[in-house]
Amino acid sequence: MVTLEEVPDIVSKMTLEEKARIVVGVGMPGMFGNPPPRVPGAAGETHPIERLGIPSAVLADGPAGLRINPRRENDDKTYHATAFPVETMLASTWNREILEAVGRCLGEEVREYGVDILLAPAMNIHRNPLCGRNFEYYSEDPLLTGEMAAAFVKGVQSQGVGTCLKHFAANEQETNRHLIDTLVSERALREIYLKGFEIAVRKSKPWTVMSAYNKLNGQHCSQNEWLLTKVLRDDWGFEGFVMTDWFAKDDPVEMMRAGNDMIMPGKAYQIDPKRKDEVEAIINAVKEGRLDEEILIRNVKNILRILVNSPSFKGYKYSNKPDLDAHARVAYEAGVEGVILLKNNGALPVGRDARIALFGTGQIETIKGGTGSGDTHPRYVISILDGMRERRLRVDEELAEAHAKYLAEIRSTNEYRIEKTVFGEIFKPVPQDFLSEEEIGRFAERNDVAIILISRISGEGYDRRPEKGDFYLSDDEIRLIERVSKAFHGRGKKVVAILNIGSPIEVVSWRSMVDSILLTWQAGQETGRIVADIVSGERNPSGKLPTSFPMDYSDVPSWSFPGEPKDNPQRVAYDEGIYVGYRYYDTFGVEPAYEFGFGLSYTSFEYRNLKVETLDNRVVVSFEVVNAGSLPGKEVAQIYVRAPKGRLDKPFQELKEFHKTRLLNPGEKEKITVELGFNSLASYDGEKWVVEKGEYEVRVGSSSRDIRLIGRFTISQ
Ligand code: BGC
Repeated sequence: MVTLEEVPDIVSKMTLEEKARIVVGVGMPGMFGNPPPRVPGAAGETHPIERLGIPSAVLADGPAGLRINPRRENDDKTYHATAFPVETMLASTWNREILEAVGRCLGEEVREYGVDILLAPAMNIHRNPLCGRNFEYYSEDPLLTGEMAAAFVKGVQSQGVGTCLKHFAANEQETNRHLIDTLVSERALREIYLKGFEIAVRKSKPWTVMSAYNKLNGQHCSQNEWLLTKVLRDDWGFEGFVMTDWFAKDDPVEMMRAGNDMIMPGKAYQIDPKRKDEVEAIINAVKEGRLDEEILIRNVKNILRILVNSPSFKGYKYSNKPDLDAHARVAYEAGVEGVILLKNNGALPVGRDARIALFGTGQIETIKGGTGSGDTHPRYVISILDGMRERRLRVDEELAEAHAKYLAEIRSTNEYRIEKTVFGEIFKPVPQDFLSEEEIGRFAERNDVAIILISRISGEGYDRRPEKGDFYLSDDEIRLIERVSKAFHGRGKKVVAILNIGSPIEVVSWRSMVDSILLTWQAGQETGRIVADIVSGERNPSGKLPTSFPMDYSDVPSWSFPGEPKDNPQRVAYDEGIYVGYRYYDTFGVEPAYEFGFGLSYTSFEYRNLKVETLDNRVVVSFEVVNAGSLPGKEVAQIYVRAPKGRLDKPFQELKEFHKTRLLNPGEKEKITVELGFNSLASYDGEKWVVEKGEYEVRVGSSSRDIRLIGRFTISQ
């Protein structure tokens, strides 16, 4: 066992080759003829150096659950891991305790399955609703992103294993992600794209950071010394190590110099014969005087100082038996708190006795999460149909059977066969309007309420499209909604839409046809139970949007997405600067379909007694939230600040704090007190952070556009 104190001595005993091996992974474990992996399905492993008592360490994805193979060759045991809600849904809880609890569960699974570092959380910003990996990211807002990540990291690392903040930085699209050059001002970087990372680094001391594939202002992130050394280490005090994203380009020696300590997974030449063997490249560079050995030594020490804390280095005897039942309960709770009620004209909750007609194949092919490295392999996924059955809701079984039969037939045709790819199973969307008007009429006759499912999946390697069937509903989905609404409304019955999606879609053109809309995101293995309990009213929704739903794709301010030239983007200019999401909609008077922070409840809340007091270098804001309705519920109180007009342009308002209440019974209140440091009000002027003088407005509300209380304070110097 190597201890922290022994690191300098051990490094001094290493040969050049041994040092080079520490900074390069072993290649994809178990693939391309590499030795068998320690944990099958894990994404990476580090080199052991037996002579010096240094073991290897194991790294595995990802943000919604530990991604390892659930089955192994010649082994009857299974190695399933819990599928938690996707990150966007976790952020929709606005609940730090829940994020920490999810982190603790994941950390235990990481440890008990013999892994050392979890490749999560993913923290890129929702710059555009079409980014294929948005579901893996928290929010369009950096404060919410950073706070959620910090809580998650604390939870995971409390279990004695590490985390990895990724993808650092400005990796807000999948199109040409290995080569795209993201052009972005330092102000937008500091205030938006780096801010979440900064919060998480400062608050939770993550073991590692993963540099992103893309270039940042002309230089690959993995070779960007300004980003990895100046900002991350010098400005923020990061003390862990940095690794590349998998097979990132391009020059191992530049990576070493920039402060990218480790190259993953190693052996890039296995996927591209033009690439170098990184170990050899580093050895040669030192021998030929192109790389100062001191830099290599620095990086080796950065890595070992972290890895000495890992279970592998401590010789931990893992059980392969994490408490999956306990974790399932946390996954369920996190999901319940992340469901967002977008619209409710009295159709929800339906109660326990309503006869429910479920439409849409997503009731069976429920989407638990996205594809790619953010995918998971749980023991089970409770579909929405099965969740309702299990909770004994009265679903129309003949209608469910019609869906099952339709799916069995259509999925056996060549056109709609389920495709198994390296990035997971791809379910090509099937037409949803397979029932005739007469059939729907019959179901409307004998049921009390219709629930229509709209599903979307996306994932690593590609972005979504601003087209029908993706951002917009397909013609067949619209036809289904039209027919069902006509049939049910014609008989005085209500219609609910459920969105089982990972990132915003267009809702404005069809939302008037339904009475209620429930955004259930992709809620992991417990999806069906979560949805059933919210629909019946067993649980009250309390999620709020971590990302705006635009009226139309043409309203989205990131016009340059996914870059120029259009047919094969090489660069993407973040011309909208700091005006991302609500910062743009609010400042430029553009109405979103559902604004940032929005989410209804089955009860209602009142806000009272705002007090705003300045003390030294901070403002203390206190107020009360009262449950003014007739059911127990939780509220997310949001504190925005509007800055005075000063030297720098400012967004109309910015989220500065938030607080989720405990479960409040009708009539019950909670007093909330938060403190805002003056430095949290600063903007970056290109060189430094500045807090402008003048009168600030504190805006406390239930969403970014439902502000209930306003107070003021002045900063005079
Ligand atoms: C992804 C990372 C992931 C890594 C290892 C890459 O393709 O971008 O998020 O952690 O693979 O699986």
